[in-house]
Amino acid sequence: MKAIRINQHGDASVLQLADIAIPTPGSGEALVRIKAAGINFADIYQREGRRPTPLPYTPGREGAGIVEAIGEGVTEVKVGDRVAYAEGIGSYAEFNLVKSKLLIPLPADMSFEQGAAFPLQGMTAHYLLHDFFRVKPNDKVLVHAAAGGVGLLLVQWLKHLGARVIGTVSTEEKAKIAREAGADHIILYTSQDFVEEAKRLTDGKGVDFIFDGVGKTTFTKDLEAIKTRGCIILFGSSSGPSELLAPNSLQAKSISICSGSLVNHIASREEILQRASDIFAGVREGWLKLRIDHVFTLEQAAEAQRVLEGRKTIGKIVLKIS
Ligand SMILES: NC(=O)c1ccc[n+]([C@@H]2O[C@H](COP(=O)([O-])OP(=O)(O)OC[C@H]3O[C@@H](n4cnc5c(N)ncnc54)[C@H](OP(=O)(O)O)[C@@H]3O)[C@@H](O)[C@H]2O)c1
Repeated sequence: MKAIRINQHGDASVLQLADIAIPTPGSGEALVRIKAAGINFADIYQREGRRPTPLPYTPGREGAGIVEAIGEGVTEVKVGDRVAYAEGIGSYAEFNLVKSKLLIPLPADMSFEQGAAFPLQGMTAHYLLHDFFRVKPNDKVLVHAAAGGVGLLLVQWLKHLGARVIGTVSTEEKAKIAREAGADHIILYTSQDFVEEAKRLTDGKGVDFIFDGVGKTTFTKDLEAIKTRGCIILFGSSSGPSELLAPNSLQAKSISICSGSLVNHIASREEILQRASDIFAGVREGWLKLRIDHVFTLEQAAEAQRVLEGRKTIGKIVLKIS
C-alpha cells in the first residue's frame, strides 16, 4: 500500500511517500481502507519530535473509510462498515490498523471527507465544553484562533449554548469566517491588543472563559484578560508552549485553569459514541458546520502540513486518499 513515512524528525520535508506492506489486524483491531485522513496540529508536534514517537512511523491520527478486515474478538464493527475515528495512529496511508473500540459508525449522509473532519477536533470541542466548568447563556467567552479547526467548532457550539463569543484571528479573511460562524466580536490579535479589547468589550471586567489552543503568544496575556473567578481552558500550543506559571499567582483573581488531551476524554466506547452522536445532531440540526477548506492528495501530505503550520488554513484540512 502507499503510505507516508517519517524516518527522522524535522520539517515537512521528512514526510516521504513509500510502499509498505498492508498490515493484518490482530485481536481487537480492524483494518480500515482509508478514504480520507484529517490533518491536525498534533501531527506537526509529533513530526518535530515534540511528542516522542519511535521511528519510523506513518503519521496521522484521524481518518474515515471502510472496514476491510477485522481481528479476533471484534464486535463493534463488521467488514464493509463505513467508519471514522480519532487517535488511531497511521491514517496518512491507504490502510490503517485501528483499535475497533475507537471506530465510530459514519452516518450514510456524511461523506468520507466530513468523516475525516469531525472526530479529533469535534470531540475535542465537545470535551472542552462538557468536561470542565460549563459555559452558561450570556457568559462572555474568548476563543483564540477562532477560524481554526477546533476554534471554528468552538465558536459555533458556544453560540448554540447562548454565550457571547469574542474570537481572535490573524487576518481579515479569518475574521469574516469566524463572524459567519457566529462570533459576536473579532479581535485581530496580530495588530490589536486582545487584553485591551477584551476588557473594553466587558466593561473592564474581563471575560468569563478563555479557550486557548495557541499557548506561547497568548497564555500570559490570558491571565490579564480573564475576569476574577474566570476560567482559562488551555488545550494547545500552536505558537509554542506557554510560559511557566507559579500556581499561587492564580489566587489573587481566583482563576481556574483547565487543561486536557483528547485521548483522556475518549477512554470508553460509550464516551466516544456519545460525543460523536452530539456532533452528528449538531450537523443534522444545522447549527454545527464542518468547514473543510483544503483537500489534498496523499502525495501532497507535506504541503498540507505546511499550510497548517503556516497559518494559512481556515477550518479543516483533509487528505483524500481513494
Ligand atoms: N488538547 C487536545 O485534546 C487537543 C485536541 C486537538 C487540538 N488541540 C490543539 O488545538 C490547537 C488547534 O489545533 P487545530 O488542529 O484546530 O489547528 P488550527 O487552529 O486550525 O491551526 C492553528 C491556528 O493557530 C493560530 N496560530 C497562532 N500562532 C501561530 C503560530 N505561531 N503558528 C501557527 N499557528 C498559529 C493560527 O490561527 P491565526 O492565524 O488566526 O492566529 C492557526 O491557524 C493546536 O494547538 C492543537 O494542538 C488540542
